[in-house]
Amino acid sequence: MCVPDLRLICEIMLVAEGFMEARQLSRKFITLYKLCKELLSKQDHYDWGLRAIKSVLVVAGSLKRGDKERPEEQVLMRAMRDFNLPKIVAEDSPVFLGLISDLFPNLDVPRRRDQEFEKAVKSGCCDNKLQPDESFNLKVVQLDELLKVRHSVFIIGAAGTGKSSTWKTLHKAYQSQGKKATFTDLNPKAVSNDELYGIINPSTRVKDSEFYAWKYRKRSTFKEWKDGLFSNIMRDLANMQGDGPRWIVLVILLFVTVVIVFPVVSQVILSHVFYSIWIGWRH
Ligand SMILES: Nc1ncnc2c1ncn2[C@@H]1O[C@H](COP(=O)(O)OP(=O)(O)O)[C@@H](O)[C@H]1O
Ligand SMILES: [Mg+2]
Repeated sequence: MCVPDLRLICEIMLVAEGFMEARQLSRKFITLYKLCKELLSKQDHYDWGLRAIKSVLVVAGSLKRGDKERPEEQVLMRAMRDFNLPKIVAEDSPVFLGLISDLFPNLDVPRRRDQEFEKAVKSGCCDNKLQPDESFNLKVVQLDELLKVRHSVFIIGAAGTGKSSTWKTLHKAYQSQGKKATFTDLNPKAVSNDELYGIINPSTRVKDSEFYAWKYRKRSTFKEWKDGLFSNIMRDLANMQGDGPRWIVLVILLFVTVVIVFPVVSQVILSHVFYSIWIGWRH
């Protein structure tokens, strides 16, 4: 079987994102992903393949363009650390941070922090009557960062670890910043596929009056479309005014919540481009 040369692909992607030291950086990048695959625990939501590599490289590119003065090694290290750490479970994070510091010795790049937004998160916590705990606030900030670069995010964690509280706090934080944030939550497993997505009724035809407007079409080919929950929600969100965040929240199982950012829902579902954030801050 033909195995893709990940290092070469990574180097080309880095060049495309504007990195000059692409060859040397791609070596470090691929080494980290290889070691993560071998040394970290096996979790269903871990992905150390090409898709995950691509998404972090795109983030690295945008960080580079946002901070042109910073050396490229620091930019890449920051992207690799800050956009992987949210999905890494608590027992793996010391190993992951150890690998990063081995690959980038003596490099201490602080997290990029937005003080204004952190204040908004704290006030969101207070509005929801929650404790503005440091680790909880960090998860809310990480969820915001992921939603900025991903169209959809899985929030994963055991029951009662604060998954719902995390996205609800983020929603409040947006509101306290004056953004018109909207969400619709549903449990997709509670309804059938037809009720969820909508269906063309095979036995119903259009009424005669409506058929008249379509006289150039054959009557038998025209079927009635019945909206599903999803199509209804999407239409409502699409008709909404303003540019505030619009989410569809799918509560799938007790330990998974998915936040999908509008308006790219259909593409997201087709391409299954999901990203995970692990919530286990209370353990
Ligand atoms: N930061 C926090 N401070 C205080 N209580 C919290 C905090 N986050 C979550 N909780 C509480 O923990 C419980 C479980 O949270 P929830 O978000 O419903 O978990 P999950 O959705 O993961 O099952 C709720 O009663 C919630 O009020
Ligand atoms: Mg919940």
